[in-house]
Amino acid sequence: MSSPKTLSQWLETAAPSPALSGIIVTIAAACAEIGGVLRTAPTDGLAGATDHTNIQGETQKQLDVVSNDIFIKHIRQNVDIQILVSEELDEALHIENQGGYAIACDPLDGSSNLDVNVTVGSIFSVLAIQSAADILQPGSKQLAGGYAAYGPSTSLVLSFGTSVAVFTLGNDGVFRLDKDNVKVPAASAEYAINAARYRFWDAATKAYVDQNVAGETGAAGKRFNMRWIGSMVADIHRILMRGGIFLYPLDSETLAKGGRLRLMYEASPMALLIEAAGGAASTGHGRILEVQPNGIHQRIPVILGSRDEVARIEALYRQ
Ligand code: AHG
Ligand code: MN
Ligand code: MN
Repeated sequence: MSSPKTLSQWLETAAPSPALSGIIVTIAAACAEIGGVLRTAPTDGLAGATDHTNIQGETQKQLDVVSNDIFIKHIRQNVDIQILVSEELDEALHIENQGGYAIACDPLDGSSNLDVNVTVGSIFSVLAIQSAADILQPGSKQLAGGYAAYGPSTSLVLSFGTSVAVFTLGNDGVFRLDKDNVKVPAASAEYAINAARYRFWDAATKAYVDQNVAGETGAAGKRFNMRWIGSMVADIHRILMRGGIFLYPLDSETLAKGGRLRLMYEASPMALLIEAAGGAASTGHGRILEVQPNGIHQRIPVILGSRDEVARIEALYRQ
């Protein structure tokens, strides 16, 4: 049996351009380094919070800051990248070069799970830009999107918009192809939502979850399971691998902010992956990928995963 292709070998034929290939190599190097830091963080004095609050109003963990710094360090070494947008940076960071690309990232997603050794991740999105003024683009314009999941193994999941590939990090620091052309099953009986927010939900979300809870005795006509890890990366990885639906809808508490999750570096890259894998990604009222951002930290309702399930809740929103 031939050994799996390395990420670099795979990119030779799969990447749309040498520049994009180089950008993915840069991001993969950042993710590999973050994965390494996470492995021994609890005994390296890196657990716990800082006394800083980011622009989201969330207290930064030490590892949020470390992961952000690792992204910046790697991105500075790639002359094609002009701008970095990050959850942990109030403003877009302008790198001192004239590169034609911008990266948006969530350097460490699910950081509330760090203290309990549960999978966390990094999410990234790649855009072409002429100048700094161009960064507010809808997700449909992404040239690439993906995430790294730091779990029992470190996975890199990547799409250039037409298919989804999964790589696993070896002990030698090299990512190797694990799965190509991943498809999300159209039908599923597993849903992911923070059900403690029930009282804040809108009528469509309540109706959808009520149908799921009713199982074979209700309108859905089948029994469901619920899974909620609280790391978007981990929840989406499960859905990419075996189907399901992830929901972080607009609710009465997140209404003023426009939702919980961020459009440019959480929702859009995940929507790109899910659609490229044959799934659907919706705000409840339309494709996430068509939403024009009005700010780099804009929030958005997120409903994505198996096509049939997304269609069922979209139908409830139309009622
Ligand atoms: P982050 O750690 O980057 O701020 O993102 C956390 C997000 C996402 O990972 C997860 O799906 C969601 O927040 C969990 O929200 P709740 O704590 O409301 O369940
Ligand atoms: Mn996040
Ligand atoms: Mn984060």
